Amino acid sequence: MKDAAPTTAPETFYLKDYKPFGFEVEAVELTFKLAPNSTRVLSKIRFAPKENAADPRFFLHGEALKLISAKIDGAPVTPELIAGGLICDTPDTPFTWEAEVEIDPAANTALEGLYMSSGMYCTQCEAEGFRKITYYPDRPDVMSTFSVRIEGNEKVLLSNGNPTGSGDGWAEWHDPWPKPAYLFALVAGDLVNHPDSFTTRSGKDVELNIWVRPGDEGKCAFGMEALKKSMKWDEDVYGREYDLDIFNIVAVDDFNMGAMENKGLNIFNSSCVLASPETSTDANFERIEAIIAHEYFHNWTGNRITCRDWFQLCLKEGLTVFRDAQFTADMRSEPVKRIEDVIALRARQFPEDNGPLAHPPRPEQFQEINNFYTATVYEKGAEVIGMLKRLVGDENYAAALDLYFDRHDGQACTIEDWLKVFEDATGRDLSQFKLWYSQAGTPQVQVSEDYADGHYTLTFEQSTPPTPGQPDKAPRVIPIAVGLLSPNGGEVRATEVLELTEAKQSFTFDGLATKPVPSILREFSAPVILERETTNAERAFLLAHDTDPFNRWEAGNALATETRVSMVTEGAAPDGAYLDALEKLVRDDTLDPAFRALVLSPPSQSEIAQSLHNRGVTPDPQKIYDAAETFAQTLAQQLETSLPRLYAATTVDGPYQPDAHGAGLRALNGRILSLLTRLDGGEQAARQYQAADNMTQQYAALASLMKAENGESQSQAFFDQWQSDRLVMDKWFALQVACAAPDAAAGVASDLTGHALFDMKNPNRFRAVMGALAGNHAGFHHVSGAGYQLLAKNLIALDSLNPQTTARMCAAFQTWKRYDSARQALIRVELERILATEGLSRDTHEMVSRILQG
Ligand code: BES
Ligand code: ZN
Repeated sequence: MKDAAPTTAPETFYLKDYKPFGFEVEAVELTFKLAPNSTRVLSKIRFAPKENAADPRFFLHGEALKLISAKIDGAPVTPELIAGGLICDTPDTPFTWEAEVEIDPAANTALEGLYMSSGMYCTQCEAEGFRKITYYPDRPDVMSTFSVRIEGNEKVLLSNGNPTGSGDGWAEWHDPWPKPAYLFALVAGDLVNHPDSFTTRSGKDVELNIWVRPGDEGKCAFGMEALKKSMKWDEDVYGREYDLDIFNIVAVDDFNMGAMENKGLNIFNSSCVLASPETSTDANFERIEAIIAHEYFHNWTGNRITCRDWFQLCLKEGLTVFRDAQFTADMRSEPVKRIEDVIALRARQFPEDNGPLAHPPRPEQFQEINNFYTATVYEKGAEVIGMLKRLVGDENYAAALDLYFDRHDGQACTIEDWLKVFEDATGRDLSQFKLWYSQAGTPQVQVSEDYADGHYTLTFEQSTPPTPGQPDKAPRVIPIAVGLLSPNGGEVRATEVLELTEAKQSFTFDGLATKPVPSILREFSAPVILERETTNAERAFLLAHDTDPFNRWEAGNALATETRVSMVTEGAAPDGAYLDALEKLVRDDTLDPAFRALVLSPPSQSEIAQSLHNRGVTPDPQKIYDAAETFAQTLAQQLETSLPRLYAATTVDGPYQPDAHGAGLRALNGRILSLLTRLDGGEQAARQYQAADNMTQQYAALASLMKAENGESQSQAFFDQWQSDRLVMDKWFALQVACAAPDAAAGVASDLTGHALFDMKNPNRFRAVMGALAGNHAGFHHVSGAGYQLLAKNLIALDSLNPQTTARMCAAFQTWKRYDSARQALIRVELERILATEGLSRDTHEMVSRILQG
């Protein structure tokens, strides 16, 4: 099932070349005769030629298929097998195509198409995996109903839509909703279910199931509750009801991504659905709730209304991420969710947008579409929708969405369709706004202020640095939410959204008796980098007084960054005023514990590296690491007398509940414990480890101890306790590498790849070790180059097994141009070594070439 080596430069696909398929697909019937190494797939498809087709060629995609037979209207035909599929002569009138192919699911380690995971059959067809199942026009604008018959000895045989019949060794399914092939799914295995039901607001009963391997049935209740909440929320907030009699979720152990929204049959990475207090952390619970919602919400934004082509991916992903973020904000805390999302955006999207992999939310070209399931398409795609909502207002947003569902139900759409709906619903011209979809790069917005005679003026200047293929950028529409505070802390102007549309533009506020303190980009109203000359005193003022929780956190984050930067560049001591402000905040029991935990969480070392780079300083990862250590040690000492009390006050009593309030307290408690461990050598952490009855506290204690290099016995105990639980073992693998000192990280990771439980073929396990290595900033960038070498070696080894996961992980090298020439040279050697690998996949080839070129 290995992808063939690109002998010549791989083909590039362009948005501008779009042509519709020359045939309608009226109905698809599939029969699967399951066998691990020789599954037979019979397809019977009704095609109707379109009149005046732009591309009348009958081309069906197909990859790694053995064609057994093909017929048109019952008569055998001999199609011509060409690169990536087949072509065949066809009648001018509607006809029935029948084909039988053989595939080898047991040998499919790429986890795309039909494959096997822990003895069960499952599929992953997005984006272009259906072509590994049978010959088909595998493109999202070709939509059809599907009827599926599965023949196999497994106890459970599932596909999309509603069940229409079953017997000994077979089951049949019919999906009445026309869909593209990427939403096809099949699961067969000896699974058990956690059943429930939901009654939609119009009174339709829906059967719900979460299917898992025997032994995991106790880990489904939380996911099921999340599903029911999602169904209710989409009715209440978007007026969207579920549209089949049954909704199935299946957990699989081997999965490249988090989860997949196949119609009526969502397939999940087991890490994104299975949860129990003993084995899952609060962060796991929050993620599971969000991802179940996300995949469920796709039923309308993605499935009922899908994408015309893969360039439009953010049409479904950006919108669905935006919707799941709204859901999480409603279920939990709005400001906390916003801060978490901005942290993630800066950690994942900003480096992408400001490096060699930069691309617009709607890319205009690709070689391998799997490489474009990126933070830009997802997270920036969601930010763009947030800006749109802010600009048109909540009511107009709701009206536009109603129109979108009304007008485009059952269609495969484009970003143009999406924006037109907003133009029609609001009367607004969105042509300038559309630049957000076509321009890459993060805009930089410089702010200056002026105050005289009661008039306060803010002047904004925007510019976006060049990105690959886009040297010049036009000014965009940037909504900037601003509030003004009086110097004694009260709000003198409530939040107002300024619309920046020019390269340089001023806004004046009148009637201000004294010069106000501005709170700019409240709620992070646009995904931009704000640059403003200000003082630490003003930042400390905002940290203490801003009425916008996001900007309050932001002020603390800026102070943290400033301190870290001056520690690294000037050898300064941690800023005393900032330490005092932090202390005050941590001890302020009127503040949400989750918020306090976020204020106490330092900016990542990678983010500090980026800040230094932006200031023209070449980051030294070891120095950044040392500064982080010194800062934490100093903070611990400053808080010394209050830590035991704070630790006690944030300890949650009673049985574990994964609710937002408890999670917030435990997050703060975990921060306190890590500081305390710096002073008591791990006494408290060891006690907590011993007493913990839930994974959040057990894990926090173990992490603190391992960070202090004092957790060997607990690490062994953890292993002994959990060695047969794969998801917990992923945590164990990752933690060893994450906690390792800079000069030890590569060695620790290397040893773990030799561990009996390390398994290259399982993406979760591979990511646990290699993802943690890439995430250990000072370890990965250790001057020896050992981190780079180890990652490259493992990526090369994985590429022939699983190109998709390999290619995604190449992004660890995307920031390479930030670092000194010695490190750059070391990285270049590794990138070139990967690129020179014989038989390298198209996926990895594209990623590494872009990183090297950019
Ligand atoms: N449609 C995607 C899953 C997918 C991505 C399939 C790429 C094939 C290739 C799914 O809806 C998704 O976006 N999943 C995310 C999680 C989500 C919460 C953002 C994922 O898998 O990480
Ligand atoms: Zn999605």
